[in-house]
Amino acid sequence: MAAAAAGCYVMFRCAALIYGVLFLTISATFASAWNYDGHAIICNLARPLLTATAAAKVDSLLNSQFPHNFSTVCTWGEEFQFLPQYSWSPPLHYINTPDKACSYDYTRDCVGMFGQPNMCASGAIKNYTQQLTTPADTHNKTEAMLFLANILGDIHQPLRAGFVGDEGGDTIRVYWLNTMNGSSTSLFEVWDSVMIHETEERKFNKSTPTFNETLVDILGNMSLAIYSTLSTADVAAWSPCPGGAIICPDQYATESVELACKWAYADVTPSQILLDDYYLSRLPIVELRLKQAAVRIAATFNRLFDPNYVGAPAPPAPTAPPVAAPPVAPVPPVPVSPPADPTVPPAQPVPGPPMVPLFSWLRRNTPVYFCFKRLGLDGGLRGLFLLSLLT
Ligand SMILES: *[C@@H]1O[C@H](CO)[C@@H](O)[C@H](O)[C@H]1NC(C)=O
Ligand SMILES: *[C@@H]1O[C@H](CO)[C@@H](O)[C@H](O)[C@H]1NC(C)=O
Ligand SMILES: *[C@@H]1O[C@H](CO)[C@@H](O)[C@H](O)[C@H]1NC(C)=O
Ligand SMILES: *[C@@H]1O[C@H](CO)[C@@H](O)[C@H](O)[C@H]1NC(C)=O
Ligand SMILES: *[C@@H]1O[C@H](CO)[C@@H](O)[C@H](O)[C@H]1NC(C)=O
Ligand SMILES: *[C@@H]1O[C@H](CO)[C@@H](O)[C@H](O)[C@H]1NC(C)=O
Ligand SMILES: *[C@@H]1O[C@H](CO)[C@@H](O)[C@H](O)[C@H]1NC(C)=O
Repeated sequence: MAAAAAGCYVMFRCAALIYGVLFLTISATFASAWNYDGHAIICNLARPLLTATAAAKVDSLLNSQFPHNFSTVCTWGEEFQFLPQYSWSPPLHYINTPDKACSYDYTRDCVGMFGQPNMCASGAIKNYTQQLTTPADTHNKTEAMLFLANILGDIHQPLRAGFVGDEGGDTIRVYWLNTMNGSSTSLFEVWDSVMIHETEERKFNKSTPTFNETLVDILGNMSLAIYSTLSTADVAAWSPCPGGAIICPDQYATESVELACKWAYADVTPSQILLDDYYLSRLPIVELRLKQAAVRIAATFNRLFDPNYVGAPAPPAPTAPPVAAPPVAPVPPVPVSPPADPTVPPAQPVPGPPMVPLFSWLRRNTPVYFCFKRLGLDGGLRGLFLLSLLT
């Protein structure tokens, strides 16, 4: 029943994507991607580690163009990657590494579905850092910062550098017996969201998935608890990049795939029921990666935005829960064209060989394909989708 309800939410969300309406309302009830909660915790942990100069620069980038504050910086990519105008961006949130290799190589692995170079999380981190460090770059610097914060978080989720053959654990079905009462999910989701939700329910008073101020309190309390385990030595060890570089995403990706092999994939077989021994032994890794992501976002922003930043300061003592921002719905950029009607194939703007209308529609609606994929219904669509990209 719970699985069916979740499926309905996903279906509902898919419909919303197709029509481009109700998006933000729906996303409130649907968790995906080092999901909203993971990214919110990461930003909560990162904020006190920013220098005053860096924090002011972040605020100025937000205030001028974007009605958010730092607590929503990390979660922006979650809300926007499914909007039609960002439908090209999902590949920037993960890296495919070769099956069982347990290693990462930028040139080998940071490629898109058809071998396009740099189309992966580490490539995106380099891309957006480049945009922010090049004064003459004409890309939207607010967006560059928002992408950078979100993807620096994602690259720390071990299975976001998982194997290409199982799509980072997404095709490995497992059953989660704790608060989900045995519902089927994917190994990827276990790492992206389920273990975080389990912890919210067990330790932080969360009993309903309702997305309201209560969740913000829960996330604030959970962030505070994790923050209190962050030591000066951790911050000093995790902040620097080799050779004084501003960013070092290749290091983070290597760590992730190694942790994926050692902890995420280890001892899991398809259709396995995951019990407390899995959850309790893996939760410390989840918390470690949330903390490392936060420290590195703060260090990266300090290096980018504060010319006087020399190194990692000691973390300030935890005080109040660090954040109170609800996941406000930003005003999404207005799509240039009216929302696509799935029954009417859109006009063909690309010169060249004529495209089958279904291919054209699929290509323009990549997020719909990913929705079906999440539902496990992409089997028949996959071939068509790939063909649509080739035509
Ligand atoms: C930059 O991007 C942000 C976030 O998408 C948007 O709110 C803002 O309007 C953009 N600014 C410009 C000048 O396009
Ligand atoms: C770099 O950023 C631009 C602007 O958002 C985007 O169009 C491009 O796809 C990005 N490339 C990578 C590899 O992140
Ligand atoms: C989980 O299953 C048990 C036993 O079937 C039932 O008592 C309990 O109410 C269920 N919990 C939820 C949250 O569905
Ligand atoms: C759970 O809620 C109770 C009552 O509001 C509160 O006293 C307690 O501190 C909360 N626990 C956590 C871990 O937030
Ligand atoms: C949050 O949702 C729960 C469950 O629906 C509800 O009981 C609670 O009153 C809500 N809290 C707020 C502040 O809206
Ligand atoms: C958060 O922690 C505070 C202080 O312990 C507590 O009063 C409050 O009830 C907690 N919030 C939730 C949602 O558990
Ligand atoms: C962040 O923004 C939210 C929503 O606009 C607001 O409620 C919250 O108070 C803000 N927090 C800070 C620290 O400015």
